[in-house]
Amino acid sequence: MKKVLSGIQPSGQLTLGNYIGAMQNFVKLQHDHHCFFMVVDLHAITVPQEPAALREQSEAVAALFIAAGIDPSKASVFLQSHVPAHAELGWLMTTLVYMGELERMTQFKDKSAGKESVGAGLLTYPALMAADILLYNADLVPVGDDQKQHLEITRDLAHRFNQRYGEQFTVPEPYIPQVGARIMSLDDASKKMSKSNPNPGSYIALLDEPDVIRKKISRAVTDSGREIKFDSANKPEVSNLMSIYSHCANLSIAEIEAKYDGQGYGPFKKDLAEAVVATLEPLQQRYKDIRSSGELKVILRQGAEQAAEIANRTVREVKEKMGFVMP
Ligand code: TYM
Repeated sequence: MKKVLSGIQPSGQLTLGNYIGAMQNFVKLQHDHHCFFMVVDLHAITVPQEPAALREQSEAVAALFIAAGIDPSKASVFLQSHVPAHAELGWLMTTLVYMGELERMTQFKDKSAGKESVGAGLLTYPALMAADILLYNADLVPVGDDQKQHLEITRDLAHRFNQRYGEQFTVPEPYIPQVGARIMSLDDASKKMSKSNPNPGSYIALLDEPDVIRKKISRAVTDSGREIKFDSANKPEVSNLMSIYSHCANLSIAEIEAKYDGQGYGPFKKDLAEAVVATLEPLQQRYKDIRSSGELKVILRQGAEQAAEIANRTVREVKEKMGFVMP
């Protein structure tokens, strides 16, 4: 049994990209592994958040974890800020990481580009993410493609710590889906689908109403051809829609190509919209039930207790190795 950890930021509406790139694998991995899934609220504040919105979004993301199929009796589900060891090891990792490593990160470059004042937390973000993973000695980290670089830093920091202070951390591996590791925007296939895109037509939110989903898919950009063929270099828009369909209808890319041979984009887009609706409708129903039941607080408290037990032990071991006087 391996240890698995991942997190999602509560910084906006979760999208189909988050679901396909990450959450579907959370659900899959929970059956055979020791899993920790958290809402990374401490990461969300690396860009300004409105307090009421942060609180609402944090609960919404936790409820979506459960609605997507994560079973709290199998996996620990919690809020990052409920386990103070994350902030503590995050600081220790900040002292271990190099400025050059942080400045090279694509996410930092994207999020700081053109900004007059950039919070220091945006730069040191990967040190906190490394702490998240290393606290639990995770073997596998299910993420989308865009987090690969952060995983690389985490691996480097694990090696660096182990070399400097003695064997402590497991060096984690990313766990990335073969199809759908990078779901792209519906209006521009050169950009990833993102909850922070100001155009809601560019993404499908997990809580979008069925008719909104149908409209967004019918308006999704395609090339001027009519062939349903996976070719990310020449037909990036259609290939992206095919990746989404593959996940929602549980069909391989080859099966989709065969099914729509000679049919054009119209029937394909129609079926795609229905497949997305059929995937999200039960999730949305469960989401409503969880939000109205009050069970979330209990789940999060238990999850944080389970996580803290392991995380606190790691912090103690790390501090001892680094030379802190132990109380
Ligand atoms: P975040 O909140 O941006 O995204 C959460 C997860 O969703 C994946 N993802 C996508 N996958 C495919 N296509 C897309 N368009 C798409 N958009 C997002 C992301 O790759 C991610 O897996 N730094 C992380 C959060 C984090 C974390 C961690 C992850 C903090 N600590 C520890 C793993 C382990 C982030 O910003 O993800």
